[in-house]
Amino acid sequence: MEFKRHRRLRTSSSMRALVRENHLRVEDFIYPMFVIEGEHTKNEVPSMPGVYQVSMDLLLDEVREVYNLGIKSIMFFGVISAKDEIGTGAFVDDGIVQTAIRLVKNEFPDLLIIADTCLCEYTDHGHCGVIHDHDVDNDESLKLLAKTAVSQAKAGADIIAPSNMMDGFVAVIRQALDEEGFKNIPIMSYAVKYASSFYGPFRDAADSTPQFGDRKTYQMDPANRIEALREAESDIQEGADFIMVKPALSFLDIVRDVRNRFDVPVVAYNVSGEYAMIKAAAQNGWINEKELVLEMLTSMKRAGADIILTYFAKDVANWLNENK
Ligand code: PBG
Repeated sequence: MEFKRHRRLRTSSSMRALVRENHLRVEDFIYPMFVIEGEHTKNEVPSMPGVYQVSMDLLLDEVREVYNLGIKSIMFFGVISAKDEIGTGAFVDDGIVQTAIRLVKNEFPDLLIIADTCLCEYTDHGHCGVIHDHDVDNDESLKLLAKTAVSQAKAGADIIAPSNMMDGFVAVIRQALDEEGFKNIPIMSYAVKYASSFYGPFRDAADSTPQFGDRKTYQMDPANRIEALREAESDIQEGADFIMVKPALSFLDIVRDVRNRFDVPVVAYNVSGEYAMIKAAAQNGWINEKELVLEMLTSMKRAGADIILTYFAKDVANWLNENK
């Protein structure tokens, strides 16, 4: 009886390494960080063990640790208490993220700093834009988002990453950046962002839970697949340099669809709820955290992601360095 012996290529660790199709590199990762007002503050986020809100005076030490692990890219989120209707804290030149960018850029010039461009951490209602008639006003919000992006670029951000899901955000941000002399600053668009329950822990970390309603009139319905291609296509036409799919784990089919259709770098956002689930299971001793995290992140590469935003970036960098 003739049959094929697939096990021949699995006989040893070296043999398996020889035929391995997908790999994780420390350069693939973007590490998200939360900067909070005040001093001497390092608050662990309860639903995200190992993730902290860090005040400005402690930030350089935190970033140094990340940098020394070989991670080349970080993303900042700001946590402030003085919020208002239009999210002024997002676009003032001395805003928390702008200040963090200046500080870190000065100390680590070759570290890529990515700015998340959104209003939800700065509005008193917690929505990603301004509210008119109980809904988020698309076109009014665009003006503020463009201002936010320009202020982040002025502070020294290397990449602008708009996560607000207003229609036309890439077009207006591209135009504003170009007019202000930032033609070479790329846009990493959260083009395909679902209205997901996996963001719960992040909203604790960033204090950005909507005070009424939800984000379903601007973020995508998790049931939809074809719509993801429309979202990605319009963002690329408007000038997006990278396309992000978010969340990642339950949306690997979408990562693959976007990879197959478009020729820009694809980013997968391994979001807070994905992190929290693994941490909780690991704390209970129910899973092998290291093996599971490496398997999960490799599956994102296999699905077609070039880049992964993950709260596990430091752990993975440590694990990859161990194997060197
Ligand atoms: C802001 C934003 C969110 C996340 C990143 N940027 C939350 C949201 O849309 O409510 C979530 C990230 C995560 O869950 O890790 N718009």
